[in-house]
Amino acid sequence: MHTAPTMSPPKSTGPSKIRKILLLYSGGLDTSCLIKWLQEHYEAEIATLTVDLGQGGLEAARAKAHQLGVQEAFIVDAREEFAQNYIAPLIKANGLYQDQYPLSTAVARPLIAKLAVEYAHKINADAVAHGCTGKGNDQVRFDISIQALDPALRVLAPVREWNMTRDAEIAYAKKHGIPVPVDVDSPYSTDENMWGRSIECGVLEHPDQEPPPEIFSYATPPEQAPERPAYVELTFEEGLPVALDGKRLNLVDLILKLNEIAGRHGVGIIDMTEDRVVGLKSREIYECPAAVTILTAHRDLERFCCTIHENEFKPLIDRKWAELVYKGLWYDPLMEALNAYINKVNERVTGTVRLKLYKGHVQVVGRQSPNGLYDLNLATYDAHHTFNQMAAPGFIEIWGLPTRVAHRVRKTLTPTLSLEGRGRPKAG
Ligand code: ARG
Repeated sequence: MHTAPTMSPPKSTGPSKIRKILLLYSGGLDTSCLIKWLQEHYEAEIATLTVDLGQGGLEAARAKAHQLGVQEAFIVDAREEFAQNYIAPLIKANGLYQDQYPLSTAVARPLIAKLAVEYAHKINADAVAHGCTGKGNDQVRFDISIQALDPALRVLAPVREWNMTRDAEIAYAKKHGIPVPVDVDSPYSTDENMWGRSIECGVLEHPDQEPPPEIFSYATPPEQAPERPAYVELTFEEGLPVALDGKRLNLVDLILKLNEIAGRHGVGIIDMTEDRVVGLKSREIYECPAAVTILTAHRDLERFCCTIHENEFKPLIDRKWAELVYKGLWYDPLMEALNAYINKVNERVTGTVRLKLYKGHVQVVGRQSPNGLYDLNLATYDAHHTFNQMAAPGFIEIWGLPTRVAHRVRKTLTPTLSLEGRGRPKAG
């Protein structure tokens, strides 16, 4: 049955009365209900902002917002900016949270927050509202980013307090003439953009259950993928992909194209348990065909062009970069400093990587680069190599010295160390 919202925020009155609210609007059921709810609870004018990050199908959102009484319903095409200023640094940083998640939802949030602040200024709104729950990471990302960019703007997150179940929401929607989407009985919550699609809720909340194949829309389930592999060649300049199979493409088109090709081969499906910033563990499914393919290629080429010392150090920086993005700290000054280092390393990451896509797997099968540090004359086992093997024994003697000394000393002082239980007096 329909349960009414149990908590209402105080009506805004007095000097801090909110007159105009910019709502971050996806066009889905949650944020559609929010339009009405904000109108009712704040008696404020509502404008909406919908950001196109390559997910498509947004024109319906504008029509729906108008239908719900919104006069200013902005749809912003931010695909180019998303690719250039958010995905590009992520590629250079090999951006993966907990070694698996390409941050596809997370990396979009600071851009949406920045646009929210810009549009709030443009229309003189005194608050920005978003539809995030109180259990997720997205509220953290939006709140921190918006407050960092303009501390004077109020941030409203009504879903944190309204306590409506899905059924209650549907009842609320029907009561207020809000169009209910046809797939309303789908139990899944999704978020998508060109860098990937996140899927949560329903059966996925049980981490021991395999995700049903029908949840996927970017990637073909591997068992249904073509029987023959596809090969692609990605060319990088200074850390960024600039051509696919020899054809130059801008980053947006390259990502969209690669989503198609790698998606067809089932590449980029991720099933993980993730540690959210609010302390709880969640089970997440992602499908990120282009992201996984590009990151696999980039990491390989970077290792090919960097020294052992760089290759051992950069993952520490990359890990911190991903953690900051995941945890909502895109606008912390530390990001700028990390990016400076990451850009410096990527100056040399130029070359071409050949990848094989086959039934859910992406594998690097070849790479070449003018900056590659691989030296065939050194590495070959043929007779003509230039590596001085006679120098190896001296190197080994000195490299192994600390370990040999430690063993000698420990054996002298504690002879029982490695011989469990021996030499101990018997009890009784
Ligand atoms: N767990 C992911 C993240 O925090 C995905 C969140 C998906 N968001 C959503 N509104 N469905 O980045």
